[in-house]
Order: sequence, then C-alpha cells, then structure tokens
Amino acid sequence: MSEPRKILVTSALPYANGSIHLGHMLEYIQTDMWVRFQKQRGNQCIYVCADDAHGSAIMLRAEKEGITPEQLIANVQAEHSGDFADFLVDFDNFHSTHAEENRELSSQIYLKLRDAGHIATRSITQYFDPEKKMFLADRFIKGTCPKCGTEDQYGDNCEKCGATYAPTDLKDPKSAISGATPVLRDSQHFFFKLPDFQDMLQAWTRSGTLQEAVANKLAEWLDAGLQQWDISRDAPYFGFEIPDEPGKYFYVWLDAPIGYMASFKNLCARRPELEFDAFWGKDSTAELYHFIGKDIVNFHALFWPAMLEGAGYRKPTAINVHGYLTVNGQKMSKSRGTFIKARTYLDHLAPEYLRYYYASKLGRGVDDLDLNLEDFVQKVNSDLVGKVVNIASRCAGFIHKGNAGVLVAGNAAPELTEAFLSAAPSIAEAYEARDFARAMRETMALADRANAWIADKAPWSLNKQEGKQDEVQAICALGINLFRQLVIFLKPVLPLLAADAEAFLNVPPLTWDDHTTLLSNHQLNEFKPLMTRIDPVKVQAMTDASKEDLVASQTDTGAAPQGNGELAKDPLSAEIDFDAFAAVDLRVALILKAEAVEGADKLLRLTLDIGDEQRNVFSGIKSAYPDPAKLEGRLTMMIANLKPRKMRFGVSEGMVMAAGPGGEEIYLLSPDSGAKPGQRIK
Ligand code: MSP
Ligand code: ZN
Repeated sequence: MSEPRKILVTSALPYANGSIHLGHMLEYIQTDMWVRFQKQRGNQCIYVCADDAHGSAIMLRAEKEGITPEQLIANVQAEHSGDFADFLVDFDNFHSTHAEENRELSSQIYLKLRDAGHIATRSITQYFDPEKKMFLADRFIKGTCPKCGTEDQYGDNCEKCGATYAPTDLKDPKSAISGATPVLRDSQHFFFKLPDFQDMLQAWTRSGTLQEAVANKLAEWLDAGLQQWDISRDAPYFGFEIPDEPGKYFYVWLDAPIGYMASFKNLCARRPELEFDAFWGKDSTAELYHFIGKDIVNFHALFWPAMLEGAGYRKPTAINVHGYLTVNGQKMSKSRGTFIKARTYLDHLAPEYLRYYYASKLGRGVDDLDLNLEDFVQKVNSDLVGKVVNIASRCAGFIHKGNAGVLVAGNAAPELTEAFLSAAPSIAEAYEARDFARAMRETMALADRANAWIADKAPWSLNKQEGKQDEVQAICALGINLFRQLVIFLKPVLPLLAADAEAFLNVPPLTWDDHTTLLSNHQLNEFKPLMTRIDPVKVQAMTDASKEDLVASQTDTGAAPQGNGELAKDPLSAEIDFDAFAAVDLRVALILKAEAVEGADKLLRLTLDIGDEQRNVFSGIKSAYPDPAKLEGRLTMMIANLKPRKMRFGVSEGMVMAAGPGGEEIYLLSPDSGAKPGQRIK
C-alpha cells in the first residue's frame, strides 16, 4: 500500500445574501463525491468551505431588512449549513469569511505583499452619495444617457441605445440608493500589482493545473497583459479594515479566497492532527484543489496564485472548473418553475436522486450540464431502483427464508466476480479524474451483468423445484455479494444508500479495498427497501412550488434581489451578465390576428402562435400599422417569458419586438425566411 495522500479540497464560498439553488449544488455535490471517494480510499482528505459574507450588497440588504450584517450572515449561514447537510455534503468545516482567522490571515497576506512592493496606491475619482456618505460603484448610479437621452439608465451603459460610457458622462446622475445627486470625490485606492506575476502565471497556468479550455481562455488574458487590481473600498463597507489605513477596507474578493485558508485554520484548532503549515506552507507536500464554476476563473487562476506566491505560500495543485446547470435545456427560470432552491427540492425529493443524476452526467470538462427532469426520473428509476437495489431485493428473501439470513460460502460464478474485480481500477481512475459519468457508466454495466446472470439462473423458478435449494442459496449469496460490490463503487455518490446497505449486510463501513473480498458464511440483517422510485408527481410538485417561491418573492418588495443565476449578479448592474440574457425566452411568433383595440389610440391586439401555444399581446405600434390586418400571417419575434401584465383592455402575455423612434416610425422585427413559429432565438 502506498502512503495515504494529504489532500485539501474546497468549493467556492457561496455568497451570504441568498439561498442555495440546484446550480450551486452541482458544485458542492461534485466536490463532496470526490472527497468521499478520497476518504473511502484511505487518503487524508479535508474538505472546507465557508460563507462569503462581505461586500456592499450584504451591507445594503441587511440595512433594508433592518438587521445588522452580522445577523444577516448568521441567519444565512444557518440556512446554508442545513441545505448542505441535507444534500449529504459533508464539509469538515463550514466557516465564514467574517471571522477572526480570516481577518488575521488577510492582514498578514496584505502586509507581506505590501512589504514586498506588490501594492500600489493612487487616487481615483468616483461619484459619492452625499446623503448615504458613501462612494457609489457604477451599478449604484442612475441617470440620463448622454447619447440618446433615455432617462433612468444605470452607471456605465444605456439599455436603450447600448452606448457605453463613464458614470461621470451620465446627465442628471442620481444615487440608486438614496436618490441624491452624487458629487465627484477623490479617494486613495490600493492596488495589487498583478503584472509583477506575469511570468509566474504564464508558467503556472500551463503546468497542468488547469483544464485545457480554461488554460486557453486565460492565455488570452495573459497575452493581453495583466492590469493592476483594485483591492480597496472606502467606508462604509462590510468587510475588514486594511492595516494602517483607517477607513479603507479590503474588497470582498481579496479576503474571499483567503477564507479557504481561514476555514482550514479554524478546523486545525479543533483537529490537533492537522497542521496549518503542512497544507499551506511554501514547502507543503499536500495537494490543494479548488472546485469552482466557470464564472470565477480569473479570481482563482490569476489573482489567487499571485497572492499566494507574493505572500510566501504554496499555490494550488489544480483548479477544477465546471460549467453551469441548465434545467430542461434552458437557463433556470423562475416563471417555468425551474429555478429550484435546494430546500424546495428537499421538500419533495430525496438528495441521492440528484447526486446520482449529477454524477451520471458530470465529466471533467467545463460544459454546462442539463438537468432534464423527465430524464432524471427515468434514469434514477431505471439505474438505481431497477438495477442496483433490485439485485438485493431479488435475493434477500430467499436467503432469509431458506437459510435464516446466512450467506453460504462459495462462488457461483467466478467469471463474474473476476469481471467486477478487474473493473475496479478503471472506476477508481474515473473518480480520481472527476469523470463521474464514466464511473457511473462502468458501474451500471456491471449491474447489468449481475442482473442478467441472476435472471438467467432464475432462483425464483429453481426455488419451486425439489432438491435445488443449495443452488438457490449459492446464486443468491453471490447476488448479494455483487450488490455489495456495486455499493462500494457507488458509495461516494450514495452515502445514505451505502449506510443502509451496510446495516443490511451487517458489515462495518465499506472501504474501497473491500471490493477484493466476498462475504461468506455471513449473517445478514433484515432487508428493508433501500430506495423507492421517483414519483413524477413529486417533480411536478417541486416545480409548482418553485413558481410559488417566485410569487412570494415578488410580493416581498423589500428584499433586494440576490446574486443568483437568473438575475444579473448584481441587480442594479447596467450590464447584464450572460445568465440574465439567457433567461430571456425569445421566440419566433406567427401573427394569427392583428386588430385595433377600441378606446386605445396606440395599441394593437395581436394573437400570436408560438408553436405550443397562442398568446395575446398588446403592442403600441398602431400608428405605424394603420391597416393591422396586413400583419396577419407575418412572423415576428417575441419575449415569451415576460411576466403577464394586466392592462385596461386585457392581459398582455409577452412583448413583440420593434425598433425605431416611435409613432409612425416603428418597425416590427422579423426573422429571416425559414424560421418557424415557436423556435427559440439564440
Ligand atoms: N462568493 C463567490 C465565490 C468566492 S470563492 C472565494 C461566488 N459565490 S456564488 O454563490 O455566486 O457561487 C458559488 C459557486 O456556485 C461558484 O463556483 C459558482 O460558479 C457556482 N454556481 C452558481 N450558480 C451556478 C449554476 N447555475 N450552475 C453551476 N454552478 C453555479 O461566486
Ligand atoms: Zn442611450
């Protein structure tokens, strides 16, 4: 046996201002499965995480809720911890970035960087809210577009004409927080001199630390040349004050990754066998892995290794990047009920269904992963219930009735146990490489073989024949042993099923190496059903409840939107991120009917065919189309997932797209020929 490896693993620290959803869970579940695999193999593997508790979003949300930021983050931490525990995500420690260990480490790292000459200071000019007495990030400023004159545009670009500009170019600027007119103010900022680490990063990002696609993306940034990174924010800010610089705070992304270290340090205080330096020191021989989503690569693969290097710590062994979760082929959507919170899922379904489904689809790439809810039901029912658990339930009864629950000695099919034995290294390799999909495929192929063999031997028929009882016992004993092997291979994914199986098998916790042995002359415990089929009704109930969540959060006008997948990361941001764009359901629509609306001079009532349904939409394009019937039979484009709006004349169920200054000059947009009603616009 080789020496056990020392491995420290992290998942990205979730923001402490919102609930965990199934997109987040893709990350925590995959990290947990990898960690459980390492532990099952006998390695020393430590898994730490924390809430990411700092920043102005959290400060402002707490203020809105009338509580202190400390109260807010404590509430959220309790909620997050519960969600993770119930999804069987087994952190060795779940800490907070707003903790003493993190304050000390952040200060110390900053001071090391400063003393080594890697910190620059210079004054920058920014808008300042004289009422709130705070500097305003671009996304907290609104005003009139300097280009087209549209009012109410955010900080740095215009939603109407698409112009980009500096917030100082906005006409009639207002603070989005207080409504006051902001004034320009200078302030000293602190910068981390990232260009000092250009050569190191060039080499490090190409040294097997990153997946190919990620390394290529980073090469683009590196080739373009690195910029200094602004790491300070002025008070008021919820974070840590910078040493020797009263009123200046570390930007949230400076102390967030240091939160990994802090969480580990906090754990060391409770686990005397762990030594901080053995994992983080420059000469550490431990392995260090960060699991993250593709949206936060620059922080982890540029800033973070540079900070570690500059402060005299070791750098990560690898950064494991995953793609985004889609549901039913699309960005999670609140209106479709596919924006599913961890808790909403847990209210309806067992955690291991999702863990298995994610495992069955997760490769080592950065592609997005689709949770197709029909496929989910089908796959879990057919693989876990139909193949794996089925073996045990088919065999257990005969052993209990025919042999008092004792597995007889012997091996009824050595070629089969040989196949299981020789498949194990490849399954282990797949886990090690985070190719969970391959690990699941190969395990299920073994389950298929076991089932086929049992079906062929048909102990249920033999059992009815005279003198075949020994044969029945031999077949079923092997069946149970093969089931035990499958459980060993699936244990990182299905820890609860494994625990229940261990109880039934009457064995101590199964290690990976246990697959090399068979149970013989062994007493089993009573068999209880290990897993039930997913009832599709539960899935429907879950998506219905996710729609209800939406209704609740819409009436809850006080709460600030959260940093989640559907909304832009910051709701006040003028720039929308790709997720926000992808959340728009744009469709080709066929105009079935177009008619004037009595009592409305500007509106047409359009009846639209969008493939699977018809929609009624009111559109202010009457002046441009005095003879509306001419529009009938034409294709146009509509936003199909806009919240229905009640108007004086009826409910408008979406919006069609038109361009132009208005009045008679407004042009309905049309797709090119070949487009079909209902097709999605990408
Ligand atoms: N607080 C930062 C991370 C700081 S790490 C030092 C953050 N938080 S987050 O809550 O927005 O995201 C936490 C993790 O969940 C990130 O790795 C992010 O990529 C991942 N995901 C968030 N939404 C996701 C999906 N819809 N799909 C897959 N992963 C997603 O970023
Ligand atoms: Zn404009």
